[in-house]
Amino acid sequence: MSSSLLRGGIIGLGVGKAHAKGYISSPDVELAAVCDMNPDRLQAFAEEWKVAERYSDYKMMLQDAKLDIVSVCLPNALHAEVSIAALEAGVNVICEKPMAVNTAEAQAMVDAAKRTGKRLMMSYNYRYRSDAQWMRRMVTTGQLGDIYHVQVSWRRETGIPGWGLFGSKAASGGGALIDLGVHVIDLALWLMDFPAVQTISAQTRSLFGPVGRKTWGRKPGQVIEGGFDVDDGGVAFMRLANGASMALNVTWAEHGQPQEDAYRVEVQGTEGTAILHVRNYKNDDTLRFYTEMAGVPVTVVPTANFSTPQGHEALVMDLAKSIRNGEAPGTNGEQGQIAVEILDGIYESSRIGREVVFGE
Ligand SMILES: NC(=O)c1ccc[n+]([C@@H]2O[C@H](COP(=O)([O-])OP(=O)(O)OC[C@H]3O[C@@H](n4cnc5c(N)ncnc54)[C@H](O)[C@@H]3O)[C@@H](O)[C@H]2O)c1
Repeated sequence: MSSSLLRGGIIGLGVGKAHAKGYISSPDVELAAVCDMNPDRLQAFAEEWKVAERYSDYKMMLQDAKLDIVSVCLPNALHAEVSIAALEAGVNVICEKPMAVNTAEAQAMVDAAKRTGKRLMMSYNYRYRSDAQWMRRMVTTGQLGDIYHVQVSWRRETGIPGWGLFGSKAASGGGALIDLGVHVIDLALWLMDFPAVQTISAQTRSLFGPVGRKTWGRKPGQVIEGGFDVDDGGVAFMRLANGASMALNVTWAEHGQPQEDAYRVEVQGTEGTAILHVRNYKNDDTLRFYTEMAGVPVTVVPTANFSTPQGHEALVMDLAKSIRNGEAPGTNGEQGQIAVEILDGIYESSRIGREVVFGE
């Protein structure tokens, strides 16, 4: 490896695998070190990706590995602690979503990035898909006219994660809303250049998880170790400062098309409606644009080009390139904090049973 390459590392080797591809593909960075407290996972991962420097303790890694970038791919409740430690060790951070389990932690992370002058990037990998980028170009170039409503959802028929700590409020901060909702909330706000959210009215529920139904990789009736005290679905309605409204529907589990796992972002404007609908992580047939031409309704079926790096791979490459060029990467901590504030608002509205007004 050339010594001019930036040194990258990954802490947490579950979804960390998706990050590894970016470190391998990027011409600006090498995957120098990996960390996981699970020794079997650490060994298997390091062998697969040919990484010599292995750590079971993230503090030792930050102290010894002389990293330029680290991906924090740990359970949600550890994101703030580990990201802040990395920033303070002089390392640029890619933090998995959700950024943190509450607004106070997200704010502390943003403050740490400012204090240290290091980059804090959010792992919003779905922005780095060619179809999502096309949607953004359509919105920002005004081809939809004035946006009046955004309808977003992520719905799974049987999709309560059966591994890790996703069922634990202490470890994850919440359930389906914080896990899946954060992605579609971010996509919607990013498409519109982050209009402020003014009000939120929401209701969350927990019906399948507590009784061990509709869990990935578990027998029916088998409840996740440590219990299940988070939401497995919810809906929200929001008023935005750009005059548009946003409706959200997120489920880890519902009765529906068997094995369906799909997210959808529908942006409605005075001149057209653009829809991104990704089913079961596939790339085919994800886009529609509905408009009128010469007085008749027209349906456009765009074909996005997925031959370039996508998702996590492109995201890691973006951060490495931004460090090389002295530019800002495509996501940042401030944007991560906005999503966490909205999630806090959703949970609060559901808890008190009425609308939450922001800025009051
Ligand atoms: N962006 C995406 O699309 C996406 C997809 C999946 C998961 N995620 C996020 O990634 C994070 C991790 O999720 P996952 O599915 O990989 O979970 P996981 O449970 O599969 O992996 C987490 C890993 O962290 C390790 N770990 C836990 N505490 C540790 C510590 N203190 N020190 C070192 N290692 C430790 C565990 O041993 C485990 O291997 C979560 O925040 C989740 O929301 C994001």
